Amino acid sequence: MELKDYQKAVNYIKSKIGSIQPRLAIVLGSGLGVLTEDFENLITIKYSDIPSFPVSTVSGHVGELLIGTINDVPIIAMNGRFHYYEGYSLEEVTFPIRVFHLLGIKNLLLTNASGGINLNFKAGDFMVINDQLSFFAESALRGKNLDEFGVRFPSMSQIYDKGFSEKLFNIINNLTGHAQSGVYAYMKGPAYETPAEIRALRILGADAVGMSTVPEAIVAKHCGMTVTGVSCITNMASGIEQKDLSHEDVNDTADKVKYIFKTIIKEYIKLF
Ligand code: HPA
Repeated sequence: MELKDYQKAVNYIKSKIGSIQPRLAIVLGSGLGVLTEDFENLITIKYSDIPSFPVSTVSGHVGELLIGTINDVPIIAMNGRFHYYEGYSLEEVTFPIRVFHLLGIKNLLLTNASGGINLNFKAGDFMVINDQLSFFAESALRGKNLDEFGVRFPSMSQIYDKGFSEKLFNIINNLTGHAQSGVYAYMKGPAYETPAEIRALRILGADAVGMSTVPEAIVAKHCGMTVTGVSCITNMASGIEQKDLSHEDVNDTADKVKYIFKTIIKEYIKLF
């Protein structure tokens, strides 16, 4: 991928949204498609119509950009993200983030579903991501550095913006009474982790585990965006409870909390 590939996507999106300048980009995790209901002046753009955008291989998978205003704030949201486990390269997984940057968007909110590793967590909790682990995965910045986006060796000493993360934490606390914050560990999936991997991740300092977000956060930080992240703890991680993990359980929890999750996001949007 070269700068001109990103530029083609940007030009196409600009041709659809005109002079609208989104102030925040949001990547919607499982269940959060319900945010679609709350847009005013909604413009949707299918990923498959955007030049150079990764093509969705999964049938029935939503894949569209949502542009419009919520609480009078112009935003752009990804309804459906690309995961490494689906077979996309990390360059493809993070392609939209660089497009957002080139669209002039300075702030990014990443949302996801994850498994709770911290034993004080329970399914249905929300965790503000304050740092991340990705020891076992290649970096999304591997390969030739595109200097237009950022430096070869970017600092990751503070990926998640402290000020906005604190505000997000307070919003969650006000709405639920028990906000969590912690470290998100990235695993490549698609299999859920083993109990031994979860014990190891706990020793390494992880509070939650999931299969997204980390590549996007690194690429956003590389190009100077302000990043925040929130994880819906949909289940306790492998081995903590005496049962198998299932995608159905993950979806069930995500579904149960989607309206409160949406309320959190809508409150957060007011900051921009
Ligand atoms: N592990 C990895 N990814 C996840 C999990 C999990 O337990 N729950 C939701 N996404």
